[in-house]
Amino acid sequence: MSDTFIIYSSTDGQTKKISNALAQQLRAAGESVSLLSLAQAQDLDWDKVAKIYIGASIRYGHFNKALMAFINRYQAELTSRPNGFFCVNLTARKANKNTPATNAYMMKFIKNSPWQPQLQAVFAGALLYSQYRWNDRIIIQLIMRITGGVTDTSQDIEYTDWDSVTQFGQQIIAH
Ligand SMILES: Cc1cc2nc3c(=O)[nH]c(=O)nc-3n(C[C@H](O)[C@H](O)[C@H](O)COP(=O)(O)O)c2cc1C
Repeated sequence: MSDTFIIYSSTDGQTKKISNALAQQLRAAGESVSLLSLAQAQDLDWDKVAKIYIGASIRYGHFNKALMAFINRYQAELTSRPNGFFCVNLTARKANKNTPATNAYMMKFIKNSPWQPQLQAVFAGALLYSQYRWNDRIIIQLIMRITGGVTDTSQDIEYTDWDSVTQFGQQIIAH
C-alpha cells in the first residue's frame, strides 16, 4: 500500500490547516493520504510514499531549519517520485507577490534548494495577533505598518485564498 504524503512545517497552525484541507480534498477524490508534521516525518518508510508534497511557513524571513535538513537528507527520495512544495507567508497577501515567480521567499527557495519541486505554490497565511507573544506582536505590527497591512492587534485575519489551495489540490490529484 502506498500513499500520497503531505508534510507540513507550521508554527501557528496555518500551514497545517492548508495541508489538512488538501488532504481532505485528495481523500474525497479517492486518494489515500498520510498527513504528517515535519517532526513526524523524520524516519519515513519511503516504500510507502507514492507522491509527496511539503508545505512550510516563513518566520522572520526563513523556513524552519529542519526543512532544509530534511530536503538535504532526502533529496534523492523526493526527486524520484511525483513531488511538490508550497510556501506560506504574509507577503503573499499582496496580489503581485503570491505566485512562485513573484514571491521572494519561494524564489529564494528555488534558487538555493537542491530539490526542485515539480509542483509549486505560494499561499498567503494568517495574521493572528491574538496568538502571538507580545514581542512577536509588536514586531509583526511594525512590519504591517511598513508594508501597509493591518495594524489593529485586536483583529485576527486569515488571508489564505482557499480557491487557490483547491486549485493546487487539483494539480496534485492530476499529478
Ligand atoms: C514571528 C513571525 C514572523 C513572521 N515573519 C514573516 C516574514 O518574515 N515574512 C512573511 O511574509 N510573513 C511572516 N510571518 C507570517 C507567517 O508566515 C504567517 O503568519 C503564516 O500564516 C504562518 O504559518 P504557520 O501558522 O503555519 O506557521 C511571520 C509570522 C510570525 C508569527
